[in-house]
Amino acid sequence: MNILHVISSPKQKASTSFQLSDAIVKQLLEKHPDGKVEELIPAGFPHASQEFIAAYDLPKHQQTARQNEVLTHSDKAIEQLQRADIIVIGLPLYNFGIPSSLKAWIDQIVRPGIAFTYSEEGIVGLIKNKKAYLALSSGGVYSDGLSHFSEHALNHLKTVLEFIGITDVSTYRAEGLAYPSLMDTALTKAISSIEI
Ligand SMILES: Cc1cc2nc3c(=O)[nH]c(=O)nc-3n(C[C@H](O)[C@H](O)[C@H](O)COP(=O)(O)O)c2cc1C
Repeated sequence: MNILHVISSPKQKASTSFQLSDAIVKQLLEKHPDGKVEELIPAGFPHASQEFIAAYDLPKHQQTARQNEVLTHSDKAIEQLQRADIIVIGLPLYNFGIPSSLKAWIDQIVRPGIAFTYSEEGIVGLIKNKKAYLALSSGGVYSDGLSHFSEHALNHLKTVLEFIGITDVSTYRAEGLAYPSLMDTALTKAISSIEI
């Protein structure tokens, strides 16, 4: 059982989202004691450049040496994703969406012909047989009420994962961390809701 643990908060292991995603990883390891964990910190991941986009849908044999080099980071990120049976992503809510380093990672892994393709029936995700857990940390509360519609992180991530074939996704939220009445209990409440 290979677990890919994506730690996307700029605060890395000092973050609340890491504490929540790490609690998920620990519970997964209790269930799968022989599990191996690979950590990925996407801080510094290159953004999709003009060169990258020109190269990324070419089959390998049609790429120039330079294009091959430009795609190295993406190739490695896809291999790492393919090695995993389970993907655990810790993320903070940033301006109602996902942090930019996580978006940079997504743009590197969602490659035509490798992560997804088109068939007569529509889009086919090519990253199969994986389970994902998403651990979101936020200052506000978005799980119910009208504010639900202004939280674009979990829906975005779930859509992207489903697009590439990862349809089994569980979500957890440590929310209300900006509210004095909720901040002390938000994380423990989220951790106690974990079901593996
Ligand atoms: C740049 C930035 C943007 C943020 N945007 C939001 C937001 O849109 N909504 C919200 O509820 N909290 C927002 N927050 C608060 C964080 O989501 C909150 O502090 C979260 O617990 C941080 O998680 P972390 O410790 O895993 O980094 C923002 C914080 C920062 C630094």
